[in-house]
Amino acid sequence: MEAGLMRPPDYEVNHITRYLRQSLTGTPATLYDAASYLIIHGGKRLRPYMLMQTCQMMDGNAAQAVVVAGAVEMIHNFSLVHDDIMDNDDTRHGVDSTHKRYGPSLAILAGDTLFSKAYQTLVKSNLPDTVHSSLIRYLADACVDICEGQWLDISMGSSDEIPPPSEYLLMIRKKTSALFEASCAMGAICAQAKSTDVDNAATFGRNLGIAFQITDDLIGIAGDTAITKKPVGNDIREGKKSLPILMALESADPRDRDAILSVFGDRQATMQQTRNVVAIIQRLGIEDAVRSRAASYAEEARLSLDTYDGKHQSNLLSLLDFVVKRCL
Ligand code: IPE
Ligand code: IPE
Ligand code: MG
Ligand code: MG
Repeated sequence: MEAGLMRPPDYEVNHITRYLRQSLTGTPATLYDAASYLIIHGGKRLRPYMLMQTCQMMDGNAAQAVVVAGAVEMIHNFSLVHDDIMDNDDTRHGVDSTHKRYGPSLAILAGDTLFSKAYQTLVKSNLPDTVHSSLIRYLADACVDICEGQWLDISMGSSDEIPPPSEYLLMIRKKTSALFEASCAMGAICAQAKSTDVDNAATFGRNLGIAFQITDDLIGIAGDTAITKKPVGNDIREGKKSLPILMALESADPRDRDAILSVFGDRQATMQQTRNVVAIIQRLGIEDAVRSRAASYAEEARLSLDTYDGKHQSNLLSLLDFVVKRCL
């Protein structure tokens, strides 16, 4: 991590991106164009960066890890392509989402292609087969978690009940944090580290992932639209039962609670109505409360890397600042 940059450095991102673009070519060309479309248009490459840094922190080989890192980023993009269909989101990275650009059939297949290519790519590294099988197991478990978490997210969204924060936390642990956990654990596995090191890496990724999604949900509600390139309060109109909303409903007086609930989940709500709800949430001090919740997960993550040192450990620790303070 470059000082003050608060995101993975460009040369790392470019390296991983080049590898992904090379891997995502073939015929029919349109299928591969659709599969690589999101990757070409942006993405922070957090998960592959974390995988590579963890591997190197544990004295592993970066050239072997880049292949595995590419596989993880393919899984991430598979989940995004399908997520935009499920969430009915027309834009990502400030451009049309894959289904908007290519239509739903090709977008579903583009996601499936990314998913399948990830496993094809993973076993291309020249690591021993015993390592490949642990990597496959970890990645497959994360994919199952993503599906379970995505369904929990959708079913929470369509239910009239307001869930307790614990249900939200289970949902984000599966839909988001599982792949962060897998990325770090897989970095350690690439380095053929011992099981306590794999566990430490997994704990780091899991807690960072939870902090990341909590902050992401805050941005989805109170984010600056000029930065996020998404409409104001999108998640409010979509009725997303995310932590900021759950905490706002918990601390609001009956009048504010009614005002929030009258717009929450109403896709036809006007911009002005949505802005009013965002203002209430801000007045209730939810932003600070949510960021401090994220910070406590970041602190847990930090503790799990206590016994390591060096450049790669400090790169991983710098990510925690990014995750907690980010606005995008
Ligand atoms: C977006 O993840 C999806 C979530 C889990 C919130 P990222 O914000 O890491 O996605 P990109 O790849 O950088 O766009
Ligand atoms: C992201 O979830 C998708 C996955 C974690 C699989 P969200 O729907 O909450 O995130 P954005 O806002 O679309 O990136
Ligand atoms: Mg989404
Ligand atoms: Mg979603």
